[in-house]
Amino acid sequence: EVIEIDASDVDLGGYEHYMLKEIFEQPQSIENTMRGRLSLDDATAVFGGLNLSPQELRGVDRILLTACGTSWHAALVGEYIIEEMARIPVEVEYASELRYRNPPTPRRTLVFGITQSGETADTLAALREMKRKGHPTLAICNVVGSTIAQEADGGIYLHAGPEIGVASTKAYTSQLAVMAMLGLYFGRLTHLSFDQGYRIIESLQKLPAAVEKALESNDAARKIAEKYQAASNFLYLGRHFNFPTALEGALKLKEISYIHAEGYPAAELKHGPIALVDEQTPSVFIMPRGVVYDKVMSNLEEIKARRGPVIAIASEDDDQVAKIADDVIRIPMVDEFLQPIVSIIPLQLLAYHIAQLRGCDVDKPRNLAKSVTVE
Ligand code: G6P
Repeated sequence: EVIEIDASDVDLGGYEHYMLKEIFEQPQSIENTMRGRLSLDDATAVFGGLNLSPQELRGVDRILLTACGTSWHAALVGEYIIEEMARIPVEVEYASELRYRNPPTPRRTLVFGITQSGETADTLAALREMKRKGHPTLAICNVVGSTIAQEADGGIYLHAGPEIGVASTKAYTSQLAVMAMLGLYFGRLTHLSFDQGYRIIESLQKLPAAVEKALESNDAARKIAEKYQAASNFLYLGRHFNFPTALEGALKLKEISYIHAEGYPAAELKHGPIALVDEQTPSVFIMPRGVVYDKVMSNLEEIKARRGPVIAIASEDDDQVAKIADDVIRIPMVDEFLQPIVSIIPLQLLAYHIAQLRGCDVDKPRNLAKSVTVE
């Protein structure tokens, strides 16, 4: 049975909005998602509810991730992580598209539906269609006992606690933590060594403290929000693991402040979006240190050359970026596959403060619903 939780059951705990409370809960919610699921003895992740034998899981040669909205962004990050760690081809598909498309699905395809609520109509329909085709379907859900959690063959609960704010925050970072653990799990079934698995676990264990540190960007995010609250357009740019972060950062701003924002892989700028750049259009660059840092920096320079204001989300020890970006928000260093979990924090805060300064109803944005149970 589904336990209905509504806003009045959850205390605001001194915060002005549920969204802000949920943003600040993330060190704890991520910890809860990982609790009991990391085994240093076996250097792998442990999931109790997949309902598939290690032999069946070892036989998976393709993974399909399907979702809507923010959960779809989590799937994109999952694609990068699982392919890199486990070398299994991963495909990501909007549930609303998957349900009516008729893609050839190789026999040993494992399907995951990612959904905070477990009630999204399109995600449910896409999973039913894949199940009908004979694929094992697993759900990654936050709401225990939700329809999708019940209908799937098995799954992984987020344990992030109830999320009241319509714009998803803590459920997203918990979904990303699950993606990282799945990458580790499938990686260890295939080619990752004990030592490699062990080091991944050590990185995951440091994550809640890194997120705590990233929350210190709240004041900086507030100041930047004051500066740019009147803008009508924003660009969000990132590459590699942080390309989905650009999409999710833009979505957060759109959802709650009603400002038009677009997320793009930074290198795609030159194929169109750079035409939007002018002195009134801020670009948010997600550019922590990593393999694509220099490339993103040159994308940033292209914007500056056209006098577009730049806000950079950069690593704490980056002394290069401040010379060129108009504003910099610092985030702590973590392994690259975990960067999306840390880099989204200041973007959630930025969207929150801009929406609040513009007098928007942060927890209940116009035209949006927490769970979309119609097509
Ligand atoms: C709605 C919500 C979004 C959410 C999406 C998918 O549109 O407003 O925040 O990302 O549904 O929801 P789900 O519960 O399936 O993750």
